[in-house]
Amino acid sequence: MKDLRDKLQPPAWPLPDEAVEAALRQAFVDGSWGKYHGPNCRELSDRLAEFHGCEHVVLTCSGTAAVELALRGLRVGPGDEVILSAYDFEGNFKNVLAVGAQPVLVDIDPARGQLDTEQLDMARSPRSKAIIASHLHGGVVAMPILRAFADRHGLAVIEDACQMPGAIVHGRVAGTWGDVGVLSFGGSKLLTAGRGGALITRNAEIVQRIRVQTQRGNDAYPLSELQAAVLVPQLHRLAERNQLRTENVSLLLGLLSDVAGLNCFVGSSSSSDTQPGFYKLGFWFDAATFSCSRDDFACVMRAAGIALDPGFRALHRTHARGRFRSVNDLPNATRADDSILVLHHPVLLGTPQDLQAIREAIK
Ligand SMILES: Cc1ncc(COP(=O)(O)O)c(C=O)c1O
Repeated sequence: MKDLRDKLQPPAWPLPDEAVEAALRQAFVDGSWGKYHGPNCRELSDRLAEFHGCEHVVLTCSGTAAVELALRGLRVGPGDEVILSAYDFEGNFKNVLAVGAQPVLVDIDPARGQLDTEQLDMARSPRSKAIIASHLHGGVVAMPILRAFADRHGLAVIEDACQMPGAIVHGRVAGTWGDVGVLSFGGSKLLTAGRGGALITRNAEIVQRIRVQTQRGNDAYPLSELQAAVLVPQLHRLAERNQLRTENVSLLLGLLSDVAGLNCFVGSSSSSDTQPGFYKLGFWFDAATFSCSRDDFACVMRAAGIALDPGFRALHRTHARGRFRSVNDLPNATRADDSILVLHHPVLLGTPQDLQAIREAIK
């Protein structure tokens, strides 16, 4: 049977935005919509660099391409190992294989719902070269611990902030803990251009190696002027929108506080130095409490107009054993595969009535 995830359509997004409309008109008037080069990519790079306090920005055609380029820029290749969570975006696993390296999967910390930094030492080997740390579904990876571990052992860190641009992770903007930080501007993302991505770094040598990969007479992984034009005004409003989403998450979790069997990650990652971003809001679903499967529950929610869907497939359950190494049999990621639910973000810019409707549907 086809996976439920393949059948579900994303909720309506992007929402109407006058500033984006004005940027589109401007791109039409100045002709940048049809040019290789113009003011918009430069402006977007400068604004992203400023926002992250990182000198270098490389705009790319997707977040997936940005992760691949990050690996290449860090000289990860055949014979190397890259540590990542067994519950992660599939493209991250495939990118490791694409550069000829081997993925090493670690389990997730069940409270945070994120890569378990306690398992890094078990995963390390003489072949370890890098760690990919993705902040997922409104939770954040314990980056101070992960960064200290990487520094101790001379490993590079790719921090995947595709799900939370502009979030504050233990006191720093998401993406800036990594040697390279990665963003996505895909069609469902908080900053959207339909497609696109970026990587940010303070290291000029990494950028130089990436340019060798991408510049082939032309940019082989480009973000267009038109895409950049619509992203600039969204970036201006990102902090304000992240704040609104955060307030609505608090409101929603308050409304759901008496619902047994649905436990949000976010509480466990929260600390005064962290303000996560909410591309998706993740919950552990307890089938026994609801007396129904996670997938049936998601179908009922969709029928009620609520975009609360199954999360990612766990990587060790969807890839042949020979393609990766793992520290153990990954029990928490296995449970995540069966029981994570994610609420899509558009409703988090909605009204209190929209949030109340979620509570009523669940009840
Ligand atoms: C954690 C994570 N990393 C990377 C990506 C890849 O981004 P893109 O769709 O732009 O390739 C995604 C996309 O959903 C993601 O969720």
